[in-house]
Amino acid sequence: MKKEKIQAPKGVSEYVPPASREFEWVRDGLITPARLAGYSLMELPVFEDTQLFTRGVGESTDVVSKEMYTFEDRGGRSITLRPEGTAGVMRAVIEHNLDRGQLPIKVWYSGAFFRAERPQAGRFRQFYQVGIEAIGIDDPAIDAEVIAIADQGFKSLGLKRYRLEITSLGDSASRAAHRIELDNFIATLDLDEATSARAKINPLRLFDDKREEMKKMMAKAPLLMDFLSQESRAQFAEVQEHLNRLGIAYVLNPHMVRGLDYYTGTTFEFIHEDLGAQSGIGGGGRYDGLMEQLGGQSLSGIGFGLGVDRALLAAQAEGVVPKDSFTSDLFVIPLGEKAKSEALLLAAQLRNRGHVVEIAFGERALKGAMKAADKSGSKYVVVLGDTELASGSVELKEMSSGVSKSVTISALHEALSTH
Ligand code: HAM
Repeated sequence: MKKEKIQAPKGVSEYVPPASREFEWVRDGLITPARLAGYSLMELPVFEDTQLFTRGVGESTDVVSKEMYTFEDRGGRSITLRPEGTAGVMRAVIEHNLDRGQLPIKVWYSGAFFRAERPQAGRFRQFYQVGIEAIGIDDPAIDAEVIAIADQGFKSLGLKRYRLEITSLGDSASRAAHRIELDNFIATLDLDEATSARAKINPLRLFDDKREEMKKMMAKAPLLMDFLSQESRAQFAEVQEHLNRLGIAYVLNPHMVRGLDYYTGTTFEFIHEDLGAQSGIGGGGRYDGLMEQLGGQSLSGIGFGLGVDRALLAAQAEGVVPKDSFTSDLFVIPLGEKAKSEALLLAAQLRNRGHVVEIAFGERALKGAMKAADKSGSKYVVVLGDTELASGSVELKEMSSGVSKSVTISALHEALSTH
């Protein structure tokens, strides 16, 4: 009896060849600027103690209250699949005493994250982020550098139709002053129980409420931007000066509310114009109280997470995904057993010198192998038979033009490098 096929769980993003090459290109492009700025890899578990997120990300957030994949493991511990990366990085920094070494700690990460959201275009239950965190130095120049690194990631992909929005959530004095006014304002509103409860934990959440009547009510609410302390104001001005000098365009958005509770000071989002409702391709900011909140010392931090899935959708929408940079340089077609063994050796040598080389395997006739070469999209093809092995030279055929030239096998590296 034929068995029923099993499908992937609802709402996950997955990438199989050939589309996975585009995904890889986006992911690598987004993280390269961080590596060039001296950030080191941090590879962390995808599941953590649930408390890390309830305490770190905040119970008023949708992420924690509605979207976590939480389960009990076989030892009866409450475990959660990571919905974001910052809390885990903080946990690891504290656990490995990195906060006692050289500051700032600068790390990058890349991987899968999990949020039980309602799936729709660009919104997945398992999705991919690359991110960085710079921990331990409170300096507006770092804020600007972190933003510049994210911006450079998007620019390097060739994206143009996005904007950077920035705001400041100020220091604790600014937020305390604002909170008194905001609480007073919220007390005048007629709210349902769930909304009141959310407002009590974090009143800023109400700015993010999508319901029309809530939007109307909140339009007159006092804005944090108007309560920034002198110091916060000066720091934010400095961040903007750095961005101006770097030629990074931005717009101020005092209404921005990030989906996670740990943010303080400089906060930002990258919004793409072609992506409809799920337009946030990346975001981040400062989180100066997070380390203490998680039982560590009081160190500041700033970072970002960029959505690889959404950046890929944006790159496809803008038509900037390169088509030919994913193909191999050379496709070798060996004729006969001896030639096959030589092909393995030749491919290994050329790969050592940085060329992408594929071999036609199996017992296919020349015609079938040529078809495979064509399908692979390889730039060049050579046939390696007894004649070629005896003479030590091959016909190097350029697939796009169909033009062939005779090249000695030992000179193939140079011939491939000139293009
Ligand atoms: P976030 O804004 O929640 O921030 O997520 C960052 C990016 O991940 C979003 O801008 C979006 O592109 C992508 N993303 C989020 N949820 C989904 C989803 N369900 N499907 C597809 N893509 C999604 C953070 O996660 C913070 N940890 C960033 C950060 C690092 N802040 C400071 N350091």
